[in-house]
Amino acid sequence: IIRKKACNLELTREELETIFNGYLHDEVKDYQMSAFLMAICINDMSDSEIFALTDIFIKSGDVLDLSFMPSKVIDKHSTGGVGDKTTLIVAPIVASLGVAVVKMSGRGLGYTGGTIDKLESIPNFKVDLSEDVIKKQALDIGVVVTSQSEDLVPLDKKVYALRDVTATTNSIPLIASSIMSKKIASGADGIVIDIKVGSGALIKTRKEAERLANIIIKIGNYYQKEVRTIISDMNTPLGRCIGNKLEVFEAIDVLQNKVKGPLYDTCLEIASKMVSMGKNISEKEALKEVVSSIERKEAYKKFLQLVKYQGGDLEKLEIKARVYNIKANKSGVLKNIDALEIAKLSKSLGAGRNSKDEEIDYNAGVVLTKEIGDKISEGDILANLY
Ligand code: URA
Repeated sequence: IIRKKACNLELTREELETIFNGYLHDEVKDYQMSAFLMAICINDMSDSEIFALTDIFIKSGDVLDLSFMPSKVIDKHSTGGVGDKTTLIVAPIVASLGVAVVKMSGRGLGYTGGTIDKLESIPNFKVDLSEDVIKKQALDIGVVVTSQSEDLVPLDKKVYALRDVTATTNSIPLIASSIMSKKIASGADGIVIDIKVGSGALIKTRKEAERLANIIIKIGNYYQKEVRTIISDMNTPLGRCIGNKLEVFEAIDVLQNKVKGPLYDTCLEIASKMVSMGKNISEKEALKEVVSSIERKEAYKKFLQLVKYQGGDLEKLEIKARVYNIKANKSGVLKNIDALEIAKLSKSLGAGRNSKDEEIDYNAGVVLTKEIGDKISEGDILANLY
């Protein structure tokens, strides 16, 4: 099977099952799977191979049944970025408009942050919810954000960990099947996928992002799930704050209608697509409802309800850190803020992990105080390091 893929021949479903299920059950070894994944990275996969692989992933574990919900359940996913706190903002907006959101999120790895780490920076916030608790909370308040269950798509967990250390993360078929298997197993009726492109993202070019969007939509159709995609920039960080507690505070500012700009715009775009799917209305109508929910503070109230229901204590959320200011060493115009460099800086301050088990410092991070295009005088503060 490895040789067949290396010779660029199409594999059958049975062959894919043999190697992937064999890997799940430890019959296929890491070194064999590594060679096979690299052959996929180099020679790609056909659409029918991608559909088969997604299905094998889904069938490796449980599928959450949310059909008891009175409203449609809409999920979202971002392919990962720097300063991406959109879930914290979008989930309550959408739920405040009567469309349920049940979202399983991940932790950060590498340079990109994870929603679960951000939520865990709120004292006492619980992220490991059982299936029964997820279902009850979905019915009671219409919004749940929990960590990925161990029983959902265990094959992806195993394969992803290997991809991470064998330079096989950026294969479009592998990314598409990894994301979509988890989303389909999470039981939502509709899904919005935010594909990040740029220096701080897994996907570096618009062409690759367009191919991924295309495949993701085809997989959704195959499972009769409505899928919409957005492609958004990740050359610069999303918003001003990078780091767990800092990002929670920034999300609260957006929900309190205090902040506009690229973060606000991206959230509006994702939320409008979700509400449009959930209520069968146009994205234009949905956008009006989304803006109004923020203006009337309904989205913020839903956020408070979500945090309280999952045990979090916002009163105790405070940043305990020394702050260092980075000053401009010359005058000029700010031309670029490189997402990857800022992510490395934030990680070196303690906001990210080097290995899966490392502890992070929720207080650490970076606040950018200038925007691209700003005129800068020597001595101006460019960033605060926490
Ligand atoms: N996110 C995932 O869940 N899987 C990938 O392969 C890439 C991003």
